[in-house]
Amino acid sequence: MSCIIKTESEIKKMRISGKLAAEVLEMIEKYLKPKISTEDINQICHDYIVYEKKAISACLGYHGFPKSICISVNDVVCHGIPNKNKILKEGDILNIDIAIIKDNYHGDTSKMFFIGKTSILSKRLCKVAQESLYLSLKLVKPGIPLYKIGEIIQNHVEKNNFSVVKEYCGHGIGRNFHEEPHVLHYKNKENSIILEKGMIFTIEPMINAGNPQVRCMKDKWTVKTKDRSLSAQYEHTVLVTEYGCDILTWQKNEKISQKLFNKN
Ligand code: MF3
Ligand code: CO
Ligand code: CO
Repeated sequence: MSCIIKTESEIKKMRISGKLAAEVLEMIEKYLKPKISTEDINQICHDYIVYEKKAISACLGYHGFPKSICISVNDVVCHGIPNKNKILKEGDILNIDIAIIKDNYHGDTSKMFFIGKTSILSKRLCKVAQESLYLSLKLVKPGIPLYKIGEIIQNHVEKNNFSVVKEYCGHGIGRNFHEEPHVLHYKNKENSIILEKGMIFTIEPMINAGNPQVRCMKDKWTVKTKDRSLSAQYEHTVLVTEYGCDILTWQKNEKISQKLFNKN
């Protein structure tokens, strides 16, 4: 078990792993068109991770997960399994979740993509999910209690009449894929640990257009909304710095400046 506070040499490796995970999301965008199967998307990402980046997929074989990435389309909340029979079509929204291991350290990030023209509701849901992640990232700095992250996410989501999934949370990350602490996306004052410089964890809110309840399918992985409403998720891996945070999985095409989060 690695410690909750990372050393300088661990941080250096985590920066590389984080960047690499982000690069997979940047790379895959141009392939996402109607008629591609989620299996083909998986294969392209797998080959890029393994052959171009000389890294390892953290998902493949994780507790038996059968593929290299998670692809969660429309009412799938998370852990969607790529499948050759799942063909993307105009109007779909999907989350691609990339987790990799490089030099023994993990990077974990996900975002939403749109296939062609999507509904106003889909766009609004994804926007609110991404805003909730950004708002929480703006809070991250030493001295802040962890529950503040969940509080600001829940407030923003519920103000917009959407709901937060409670069953899955963000997590510490390092040598292990999932480490302490649990990072809840709703307010729970028992979540009272205080952020310190050198902690690295993910924030990854899952937001539903309808009710918050979810159901796991017979394949033991795919999680869907119980009411079959749309769901959206964004995830970053973040390092607590002296004055704020560094987003280790920042992508070049993000519309908001990384500087906003590291104040000094
Ligand atoms: N990437 C997910 C997370 O953000 C975990 C996926 S586990 C898998 O924590 F086995 F489904 F890949
Ligand atoms: Co994660
Ligand atoms: Co992830």
